[in-house]
Order: sequence, then structure tokens, then C-alpha cells
Amino acid sequence: MRLRYPAVLIAVLAALGAVNAPGAETIQEFLGRHWRRPLVPQGPPPARFSQLEASLQPEACGACHPVQLADWTTSLHARSMGPGLVGQLVEMLESDPGSALGCLTCHAPLAEQAPGVADGARARANPVYDGTLGPRGLVCAGCHVRGHERFGPPRRDGSLASTVPRETLPHNGVTRTPAFLSSEFCQSCHQFAPDGFALNGKLLENTYAEWKASRFAREGVQCQDCHMPDRRHLWRGIHDPAMVRLGLTIVARAGASRYRAGDTISVTLSVENTRVGHAFPTYVTPRVVLSAELVDQAGEVVAGSREERVIARDVALDLSRERADTRLLPGAKAVLEYRRRVDRAGLRARVSVVVYPDAFYTVQPERVLSLRLLIADFLPTHCPWPQEFTRDKSNPERSSDRSA
Ligand code: HEC
Ligand code: HEC
Ligand code: HEC
Ligand code: HEC
Ligand code: HEC
Repeated sequence: MRLRYPAVLIAVLAALGAVNAPGAETIQEFLGRHWRRPLVPQGPPPARFSQLEASLQPEACGACHPVQLADWTTSLHARSMGPGLVGQLVEMLESDPGSALGCLTCHAPLAEQAPGVADGARARANPVYDGTLGPRGLVCAGCHVRGHERFGPPRRDGSLASTVPRETLPHNGVTRTPAFLSSEFCQSCHQFAPDGFALNGKLLENTYAEWKASRFAREGVQCQDCHMPDRRHLWRGIHDPAMVRLGLTIVARAGASRYRAGDTISVTLSVENTRVGHAFPTYVTPRVVLSAELVDQAGEVVAGSREERVIARDVALDLSRERADTRLLPGAKAVLEYRRRVDRAGLRARVSVVVYPDAFYTVQPERVLSLRLLIADFLPTHCPWPQEFTRDKSNPERSSDRSA
């Protein structure tokens, strides 16, 4: 992937060490205020605001910012109140409302999105609750609006100040801060606090710390540079095959191009985390399976020939324990060495890398199949095997085959 190293990044680096223009506030101070939990209600809008400017609905913002709305609608931030979370919340709001409201501070953070206000372990009614905004998840205003004031990044040329009086602009213009360009902005939700929920001594959500320890942090590559290229609001991740491909280098090698019956075939499949800015994958829900197997002329897998290697943080469904952690930190590599005697002619070795982004929730095999994101089809670009590289179209995994 082409990372945005130039001007903007240099501006961020300069800004991170320095102070932030308005009121000489540092980025950390700004973010501490911007992401205080829970957020306070917006209060009444300025008298000169139209209804459109006063609205917190994403579609209202989209009337003037259609590009961001179109992007956001396709993102997981727009679905952060999905069935998985809502299912848990319904029960929790009854049994443990304090914790349930805590979930919302990341999944639907505006005060106007919370059905209740935490009062110790209990909850009381929230007078500003907007039942049409709650289910919309992480809306524009969740990141951009506090007290009806708009906050956003510096202009693309790095400038912060408004060129015209702000009260002449829609929503009284924008308070611009380099905090929007830093990983710390995302840290607010993508990192549990040191005393947060952990398994086997490791926080359940540790993305920021993984990034901070990586070469990407040292090189000044922020979350936004990979997840919001050109300021797009797509936030692609493990659910997007193209994004996953960009982060990995996958190489498959055969010992020889052809084997005879009686030979021992040798194939090496490796997956290296070259451009994921944190562990691959960072969360407990995905599961990645490397596999190699022999396939006969009819396309059937030779019984007993399949070998697998799993990349995942494997935790029990009730989150009581961690069974294994084979995730790849930046720079790390998983290798599957496949050696097997071929007892007859006409067999081929097939290797594949399959990503199940939501494996944690999908126990039914049929569902797993429908969620498969197939990344084996990009082997040719990295693969040293020259001609004869075929894809098995009959197989839903579109795995890459090689004559044996
Ligand atoms: C009536 C039109 C209108 C509506 C509605 C509107 N905006 Fe804006 N917005 C603008 C204009 C015009 C600017 C450019 C202001 C400037 O040049 O400083 C702007 C600037 C911004 C910026 C800074 C953009 C940049 O260029 O860096 C952000 C962030 C922003 N708006 C967020 C929002 C959000 C979030 C909402 C909804 C809660 C919203 N706006 C609703 C017209 C609108
Ligand atoms: C500190 C912020 C934060 C808090 C608090 C939080 N979450 Fe999350 N949650 C996230 C983030 C970020 C992700 C996405 C993680 C990833 O993919 O790396 C997520 C993912 C999830 C998912 C999986 C995604 C899906 O839609 O299936 C579920 C379910 C979930 N959270 C439930 C909860 C529940 C229940 C609570 C409260 C007990 C909670 N979360 C509290 C930040 C938070
Ligand atoms: C998860 C937080 C988040 C959400 C949700 C979000 N934004 Fe942003 N937005 C950002 C960040 C961070 C930037 C700066 C990104 C960068 O410069 O790399 C930004 C930049 C912008 C800009 C400036 C774009 C430019 O080209 O200069 C506008 C306008 C904007 N957002 C509007 C919106 C609107 C409208 C929505 C909802 C449809 C929205 N945002 C949702 C975090 C968010
Ligand atoms: C207010 C909390 C919050 C903030 C701030 C936030 N996120 Fe998220 N993000 C979430 C939650 C919650 C999810 C999980 C949504 C789901 O799957 O239900 C999520 C999901 C994602 C995903 C989805 C990946 C996938 O395919 O599973 C990416 C990528 C992401 N966020 C990147 C970012 C980046 C980059 C920033 C900073 C610009 C950011 N987020 C800021 C709460 C937040
Ligand atoms: C060098 C580029 C790069 C940087 C920097 C980066 N990411 Fe990612 N991220 C990726 C790629 C590629 C994927 C897809 C592979 C994967 O899921 O691990 C991804 C996936 C994700 C996911 C999907 C969930 C999962 O289990 O992997 C989330 C959430 C996420 N990133 C958040 C962040 C946050 C927050 C930051 C900053 C602290 C960040 N990323 C920094 C490249 C990057």
C-alpha cells in the first residue's frame, strides 16, 4: 500500500511534540476533554443555527458533506450497534445498566444516544435520549461535535485558522486541531485502559499499544494513514479482502515444479505481517487458516492429506480464558511447511489462506462458508512459481493449484 508519508505526516509529527494552537492546549489535553466518558449533552444550539445545522443525524451532515456520509454508511462505525452488541445490551440494560451504558461510550458515544444515565450501578432516565440516533452507532457527531461546536482536522495545507469570520460560516465554522490526525484520536476506543478486561495478562483490546510498539509508530505512520487514506471515511479492516491483502506478504514455494509417484513433495506457504500496523489480526473475533492439501484429478481432496496452521487469538466464547494466541505482530511470519509422499500420478498440491473475519460468532459451518473472504487468489503476484499457475474455479476458496 502506498502510505501517505509526505507533507501531512510531517505536519503531524511536528504537531505531536509541540503545542496545539488554540489556547496552547496539547493534543493529549484536547483528547482528554473530547473523549471524556460519558460525553455531556450538546445543550441548546446557537440561536442562529438552522434545523439542519442543529441536527446530530448523519444525514443532516451529509446534506453538505455527501462524500463523508456515503463512505461512513458503508463502514463498520455505522454498524457499531449491530445485532451482536444489541443482543448483549438488551439483557444487560436490565441486569447491569451501569456496565451496559459503559459499552455505549464506545459503540454509540453521544449523550443523546444513551437510553439512561449511569447512577452508580443503576441507571436513571436520560432526558436528552434520542431513540432515532441511538441505534445509528458511531455517528459523525460522535467524533466531530461537542456542545454544537464542530471540530475537525487542519486544512490539507496544515493551516488551522479560519480565513473568514466563523459566524459567517455554516455551523459557525470549525475548530481545527492536529489531534484528528493522530493515532491517539483512535486510541480512545481502540485501546482498553491498563486496568481493563484482560485474558492471560493481555488486554482484550490492545490495538494502540501494538501500534505504538511497531515500526509504524517510529516512522510516524498513524492509524488514519492506513485506515483513512485521502481522508476517506471507510475504515476498512479485516472484513475487506483488499485491505487484508495490502497488509500481508504471502509467498508459496514448491521444492520442484513436478514430482513423480514415489517422490516426496515439498511446499512452503508463508504469511508475513509486513504492512499491518498492529497484530494481524488485532482482535479476538477473526480466524485465519493457512492450509495445504493434495487434490486428485477429479478435484477431490486426498483423505488425510490436509494440514493447517491457524493465526488467531483463540478465546473461549464466554471470555473465561485464552486458549492460544498465534497472531502475528508487525514483522512476524507464519510458515506452513508441507512434506508428503505422493503415491500416484496426477495429484496436485493446493495451498490457501482463508480469512474468517467473524469466526468467533459463527459456529455453524454453513455460516462460516458464507463469510469466507478469499485471499488465496493473490498468490500470483508474490508467488515465484511462473507459468502453469491455475485457479480452481470449482472450489469456493478459489485456491491456487499447482501440479504435483
Ligand atoms: C449547511 C451545510 C452544512 C451542514 C449541515 C454541516 N456542515 Fe460541516 N461544513 C460546512 C461548510 C461550508 C464547511 C467549511 C467551513 C470552513 O471552511 O471552515 C464545513 C466544515 C466542516 C468540517 C471541517 C472540514 C474541513 O474541510 O476540514 C467538519 C469536520 C464538519 N464540517 C463536520 C460536520 C458535521 C459532523 C456535521 C453534522 C453534525 C456538519 N458538518 C454539518 C457545511 C455544513
Ligand atoms: C473502550 C471502548 C469500548 C468499550 C467500552 C466496549 N467496546 Fe465493544 N468494541 C470496541 C471496539 C473498538 C471494537 C472493534 C474491535 C476490533 O475489531 O479490533 C469492539 C467490538 C465489539 C464487538 C464485536 C463486533 C460486533 O459488532 O460483533 C462486540 C459484540 C462488542 N464490542 C461488545 C461490547 C460490549 C457488550 C461492551 C460492554 C460490556 C463493549 N463492547 C464495550 C470498543 C469498545
Ligand atoms: C471515528 C471518528 C469519525 C467519524 C465517525 C466521522 N469522522 Fe469525519 N473525520 C475524522 C477524522 C479522524 C478526520 C481527519 C482524517 C485525516 O485527516 O486523515 C475526519 C475528517 C473529516 C472532514 C474533513 C475532510 C477533508 O477532506 O478535509 C469532514 C468534512 C468530516 N470528517 C465529516 C464527517 C462526516 C459528515 C461524518 C459522518 C457522515 C464523519 N466525518 C464521521 C473522524 C471521524
Ligand atoms: C467512539 C469510539 C471509536 C473511535 C473514536 C474510533 N473507533 Fe473504530 N471502531 C469502534 C467500534 C465500536 C468498532 C466496532 C464496530 C463493530 O464491528 O461493531 C470500530 C471498528 C473499526 C474498524 C473496523 C475494522 C473491521 O473490519 O473489523 C476500523 C478499521 C476502525 N474502527 C478504525 C478506527 C480508526 C482508524 C479510528 C481513528 C480515526 C477509529 N476507529 C476511531 C469505535 C471507535
Ligand atoms: C501500516 C498500516 C496500518 C496502521 C498504521 C494501522 N492499521 Fe489497522 N489494519 C491495517 C490492515 C492492513 C488491516 C487488515 C488486517 C487485519 O485485520 O489485521 C487492519 C485492521 C484493523 C482492524 C480490524 C480488526 C482486526 O482484528 O484486525 C482494526 C480495528 C484496526 N485495524 C484499527 C487500527 C487502529 C486503531 C490503528 C492505530 C492505533 C491502526 N489500525 C493502525 C493496517 C494498519
